[in-house]
Amino acid sequence: MCGIVGYIGKKNTKEILLEGLKELEYRGYDSAGIAVLENGNFSSFKAVGKLINLEEKTKDFITEKFAAGIGHTRWATHGKPTELNAHPHLGESSYVVHNGIIENYAQLKEKLINDGVIFLSQTDTEVIVHQFEKNLSNTKDPLKAFEKTIDELEGAYAILLVTKAQKDTIFFAKNGSPMLVGVDEDNEKYFASSDTPLIGHATKVNYFEDGDWGYVSNDKIVIFDKEKKEKKPTFKTLSTNKLSAQKDGYRFFMEKEIYEQSNVIADTLLGRLHDNEVIFDEFDKSLFDGINEIKLCACGTSYHSALSATYLFERYAKIKTSVEIASEFRYRNPIMTKDTLFVVISQSGETADTLETLKMAKNAGLKTLVICNVDNSSMVRLADACILTRAGVEKGVASTKAFATQVTVFWMLSLYIAQLKKSIEIKELAKQISLIRHIPTSVKVADTLHEKIKRISKRYLHGHGFFFIGRDIFFPLALEGALKLKEISYLHAEGYPSGEMKHGPIALADPELFTIALLPQHLLYDKAKSNVEELSARDSTICAISAMEFDKADDFIPISTCQDYMLEFFEMMVVVQLLSLEISIRLGNDVDMPRNLAKSVTVE
Ligand code: M6R
Repeated sequence: MCGIVGYIGKKNTKEILLEGLKELEYRGYDSAGIAVLENGNFSSFKAVGKLINLEEKTKDFITEKFAAGIGHTRWATHGKPTELNAHPHLGESSYVVHNGIIENYAQLKEKLINDGVIFLSQTDTEVIVHQFEKNLSNTKDPLKAFEKTIDELEGAYAILLVTKAQKDTIFFAKNGSPMLVGVDEDNEKYFASSDTPLIGHATKVNYFEDGDWGYVSNDKIVIFDKEKKEKKPTFKTLSTNKLSAQKDGYRFFMEKEIYEQSNVIADTLLGRLHDNEVIFDEFDKSLFDGINEIKLCACGTSYHSALSATYLFERYAKIKTSVEIASEFRYRNPIMTKDTLFVVISQSGETADTLETLKMAKNAGLKTLVICNVDNSSMVRLADACILTRAGVEKGVASTKAFATQVTVFWMLSLYIAQLKKSIEIKELAKQISLIRHIPTSVKVADTLHEKIKRISKRYLHGHGFFFIGRDIFFPLALEGALKLKEISYLHAEGYPSGEMKHGPIALADPELFTIALLPQHLLYDKAKSNVEELSARDSTICAISAMEFDKADDFIPISTCQDYMLEFFEMMVVVQLLSLEISIRLGNDVDMPRNLAKSVTVE
């Protein structure tokens, strides 16, 4: 996840920028850079990989006079993690750093190229600095040129720009991506995309609102709102607790990560969806030549997302698909045939059992693909092809946003394969793509929903067990809901196919057996409802999650009326995540670091 820092003042600019970037390391990044304007001259440094590489490059660079500097950590979305794609991006005489997505960058870029501008990177960000310089050459006024540039951008952004045309100034703009400015006791100014880099420097901070833009010089902070009216900064005292600042005001990282899902899924989709086509630039379509079957292998939450893929692949791509738990697959002498694409799924890319299965598949000569959140991880390095899920660093041990982005990738991949195999009508493909575009909206957490779940959670702190039940692709979601609850509440929970309850588990039904029922309107609703009624008739306590009113439930958590069962899937996913979170918080557990668990399981 990208991070921004900025500083204007007389202190050691280089050190302040590098320290600030270090404070953003926890968000994850794959390259970093700084640009400093001192005495009318720019110095800029970029490096791929860890910040130590940037520190090494800047070791002979000394800043001791008044300067304006900007810095950035980049998590690749548009274009690979290379030095050329790292920020800050240079125009003729200005540098820019940017978080977010410029949605109309392709149109702007095309016009700029026609004007003779040469682009050095594959990023959307680079258009900002060239567009600014184009406007500057027309207006000759840096503030007007910056204002015009912001007017021309569509999308989400937090931007800092420094230019030789107005030295001793940092221009800024914010829309949809967080950014704040802080002031220290000497009236020097600091920028960042979150609180942590400013702790220990600034004493008070102003959080920019969407639509804010303006500039900061050594003696002024000038802010305009989206109506272009000047407004005064609203300063707040900065917390001194770094850990709590990293949580952006949420109680736990898991909660923050649930709320982040909308943004990270938007990143997952970036550049991969066109009107009638799904595109994965990261591998050649020949990966699927001669493939008649897909075998998925993973552990834990990643196994659950893989299980959901089996439904999507067989339904849309019409390809035979099976899934296995990695620790089981390793020792059962499985038959591996070369017409099988072997796919491993892992948030970390380091899980020992999954990694071993990947090695087995490679040794057996199978083509391999990894779906992973961590670039350069062991699995990414080993597999023939890779799709990065782009969820950003996940700190909570209980995985949330990683799962959400994995299922998003699988939905897209099922359509990609369907395209190749021509197993889907163009009209249906276009419909599916427009549904996928809706996921970021479906996973947004509404205050009312969260409040309702908080209230309901107090009734589910005891009992002799939970059954999460669902049919079809809602069965893997039920498994995932149960895993989330177990991991952080330490209450016993199982995921079960709704239709299977009557074959045994229903014997457990009594008021102290809690059934969390997933009842999608658009997939086998009547069948799933009958299964829940059977449990209700035997007095199990039912919490139903559905868009359809259900009067046999003790508790009912409504989701919105969706167009499709997959959007219901994503809404229900948020509900089960929040329910586990709230139950665990009420029980007083450490949500982010549950007992006996580790984030990355690199032992057998
Ligand atoms: O990094 P991976 O996705 O390979 O990790 C697999 C499991 O260890 C992981 O999903 C685990 O089950 C999580 N704690 C689930 O919340």
